[in-house]
Amino acid sequence: MKGRRMALFALVTVFLLALLLIRGIQFPPDIPFDLDHRRGQIPGDCLSCHGPDERFPRGKNHPLVDECFQCHSWPAAGGR
Ligand code: HEC
Ligand code: HEC
Repeated sequence: MKGRRMALFALVTVFLLALLLIRGIQFPPDIPFDLDHRRGQIPGDCLSCHGPDERFPRGKNHPLVDECFQCHSWPAAGGR
């Protein structure tokens, strides 16, 4: 009986940890398909709008990395 309870406890713990992990992972959205976003832009261009003091700053939980294309991709179809 005791072994079973331990096993159950371990199972629940692993499940909850997995849930936390999944919720903590945020996937970077694709770069929008619109006139503000054009292929050929470099991170410096992106920051002219998404820099901290510009018109469309990234959220405060955004990763502190400015190599945009490490995480954000252009939409698979279309794009400019
Ligand atoms: C001319 C200003 C401008 C430039 C330059 C620009 N953006 Fe944006 N970006 C916006 C605006 C406005 C939005 C929000 C509205 C929208 O979705 O188009 C946005 C939204 C985004 C989003 C969020 C999309 C979503 O689904 O939430 C990402 C990611 C993004 N931009 C990445 C980039 C990257 C990477 C670059 C450089 C290649 C870049 N942007 C250059 C204005 C700009
Ligand atoms: C280390 C990975 C990573 C890099 C590098 C990165 N991003 Fe993001 N970005 C994310 C993730 C994850 C999200 C979604 C979570 C969030 O909203 O904070 C996101 C969300 C965004 C959004 C929409 C939500 C918001 O916070 O405004 C914009 C706009 C954006 N990124 C722009 C950029 C630009 C521009 C660069 C380069 C200067 C860049 N990102 C570099 C991972 C990254």
